[in-house]
Amino acid sequence: MKLRYFSHSSFQVTTDDGKVILIDPFLDDNPTSPVKSEEVNADYIILTHGHGDHIGDSLKIAERTDPTFICVFELSNYINEKGFKSHMMHIGGGYNFDFGRIKFTIAHHGSKTPDGQYVGEPAGVLLTIDGKTIYHTGDTGLFYDMKLIGEMNPVDYFLVPIGDNFTMGIDDAVKAVELVNPKITIPMHYNTFPIIEADPNEFKEKVAAMDKECRVLEYGEEINL
Ligand code: NI
Ligand code: MN
Repeated sequence: MKLRYFSHSSFQVTTDDGKVILIDPFLDDNPTSPVKSEEVNADYIILTHGHGDHIGDSLKIAERTDPTFICVFELSNYINEKGFKSHMMHIGGGYNFDFGRIKFTIAHHGSKTPDGQYVGEPAGVLLTIDGKTIYHTGDTGLFYDMKLIGEMNPVDYFLVPIGDNFTMGIDDAVKAVELVNPKITIPMHYNTFPIIEADPNEFKEKVAAMDKECRVLEYGEEINL
């Protein structure tokens, strides 16, 4: 499996057999993304919540590539109303897709679309694909149940926001690493806009001080998991 970071909370997962899964693809209006929406394809699009910097270019990408959306029930209804197909799930539930297993977790945040609809609870997502588990927290504050999530779903790659203001900042994200206890942590949701400026190397050093591994991905970088 490969993981590509577009910046912000946007990632692309490519499975060993070539399926492409986008998570929160926010590209065209994202000043830090080196990739634009017309350059990506998707078999699946996972959305953590309805905010514009997470729904992003999903609908535009879907018009061209006809993916299956995977999201919580209320956001799925919204996607269906827009004319696209979705697999609806909800928090705490997992499902085995043809590419691997998806499970939604809680996240403490909001979820309103750019056109003004409330679309249920925000979520985090666990992806277990090709023998590895990725935990993308979505936008969230720190919560102690992350410890339970990490115990029940041993995490290989932990994608955690560090930009503060709307989500955890660096120190809370360091605590989240301690609670989840992943093999490798990757920071996200920082430096996209001035209001979420944060130094990923400061985060990396604080994670390293706990003897944990952190990788700061370049915008557009792809790694093998
Ligand atoms: Ni948000
Ligand atoms: Mn956000």
